[in-house]
Amino acid sequence: MSNPIVREIARVAGRRLGVPEADVLKIITTPPSDELGDYALPCFAFAQRQKRPPHEVARELAEALREAEHVVKAEAAGPYVNVTVDRAALLRFIVGAILEQGERYGGGDEGRGRTIVIDYSSPNIARPFSIAHLRSTALGNALKRLFRHLGYRVVGVNHLGDWGTQFGALIAAYKRWGSRERVERENVYELFRLYVKFHEEAEKDPKLEEEARLWFKKLEEGDQEALELWRWFVELSWRAFRRYYELLGVEFEEVRGESAYRDRTGPLIEELLKKGIARESEGAVIIPFDDEGDKGEGEGEGMPPLLLRKRDGTTLYATRDLAAALYHYETYRFYKKLYVVGAEQSLHFKQLFKALERMGHEWARDLVHVAFGMVLFEDKKMSTRKGRVIFLEEVVRKATQRTREIIESIAKTADLTPEEKDRVAQDVGVSAVLYSQLSRSRTQDIHFRWEEVLNFEGKSGPYVQYTHARMAGVLRRAGVSTSTPPQPDEVDYGVLTHPHEVALAKKLELFPQKVRQAVEEYDPFPVAEYLADLAAAANKFYDTCRVLGEEPAVERARLALVRATKTVLKTGLELLGLKAPERM
Ligand code: ARG
Repeated sequence: MSNPIVREIARVAGRRLGVPEADVLKIITTPPSDELGDYALPCFAFAQRQKRPPHEVARELAEALREAEHVVKAEAAGPYVNVTVDRAALLRFIVGAILEQGERYGGGDEGRGRTIVIDYSSPNIARPFSIAHLRSTALGNALKRLFRHLGYRVVGVNHLGDWGTQFGALIAAYKRWGSRERVERENVYELFRLYVKFHEEAEKDPKLEEEARLWFKKLEEGDQEALELWRWFVELSWRAFRRYYELLGVEFEEVRGESAYRDRTGPLIEELLKKGIARESEGAVIIPFDDEGDKGEGEGEGMPPLLLRKRDGTTLYATRDLAAALYHYETYRFYKKLYVVGAEQSLHFKQLFKALERMGHEWARDLVHVAFGMVLFEDKKMSTRKGRVIFLEEVVRKATQRTREIIESIAKTADLTPEEKDRVAQDVGVSAVLYSQLSRSRTQDIHFRWEEVLNFEGKSGPYVQYTHARMAGVLRRAGVSTSTPPQPDEVDYGVLTHPHEVALAKKLELFPQKVRQAVEEYDPFPVAEYLADLAAAANKFYDTCRVLGEEPAVERARLALVRATKTVLKTGLELLGLKAPERM
């Protein structure tokens, strides 16, 4: 919380206790109920420092705070001081700041001069886009926007899975059962079918695995036929992915698949061998982690070695990730590099980071695995190998269709043209799907259920969007120009005394700290959750307090509150990568 009134409270309290204002600011909270006051100061820490009983410190502080500007009441309650402030002044500060800052509200420039590289989405070529990659896409895209809001330069990287033994399998499968025509027609779905068939057949006939390995080896050695087929698969897949990204409104600053590092892995392995960081083991090359250096340190101990090169000379996912990290550091001198990848790859990233540390790169500690839980679709776990996957395309189509049916039944949208309705249905449907991926803290599993995802009343994307559109509608009907906010002295915030008005304004005040929390935790969830709470507060206010047609001073003040609410809802939605339609 930071407005001139809290800062004044912190200043006065800090001076009285001889502690820095910032330290007091950090501990100021809100009392359990509004009647007790607007702010509360727990005195335990100060009391401990001064070796005095907390309630004594609280009494002393209460007395001092009564003299502070805008404070109307300050009372000790045991070890706490509850402070009631001049509500009109408080609302003027909160709402005024939002109206003045507009979409910059909640932002800042603490990230200036720092570059964050975010590796997200990163689907695998020749596979349909799955729900697991959707979660990475939604998280990474939101994190990108949140970091940018705080002034960071962000480079979004799509580390496409376009290299590896699976291409050996795909080529082998295509050579056996594929048809060019069918691949052209059905694209990733057909490539995926071939891949699944390959694994089914390989269970019966182990010779197939050998065949696949040989094809990948050829690919790594630059065999003409292998390369041509591979290139064709990549182009086809990328065409399909591009369409999904367009639909989701997601962009990348850098699309650089694993294959981009294939020429770097050879020299890298040589260097690691020369430096004694890697060693040969039964014909393969590994980085062992359980040797001397790590003993007792705990961390590397017991961690399996990182395999860099197989006996047949081919490289691995990890080898290319090592090269990619080096490339990104060379290119961007990043402040942090985030890998938005499922928790099941935790060991991989631990090994990767450890290997870079062994190489003596201090920046290895600036690498973060932003791990996330699974997405269970109507309670079933997905498995790519078994072909049990839900495709993004299908999910988005269904979401759009169902949203169209819902908005058709909402009377308010009756005056929209069919094209406008389609547009809204798509914006809302896509956002609903994206929001569903952000509606749990990232380490938790998500149970994707249609009733929840498209619920216009629960904690959902459509609910937040609907509330935003509602606020937009009020402003539209009031004929308020949306470009120029009212001047601060045109509004008398003293008339906003209803508890729902005060509660809404206080919610608005929390936005900047939620943005920071999200960035600190590498998780958009606090913002997603907050937006649903804010929407609830906004609806409570709007359902009890009439805006239009009240006496002018009240109408003006309420319109200012509506406008501030709309601004924060819109900014928040956009930071999450969602659309904020003006009408729906
Ligand atoms: N393509 C990988 C997968 O689908 C994810 C890649 C994540 N990024 C990375 N640098 N490893 O599992």
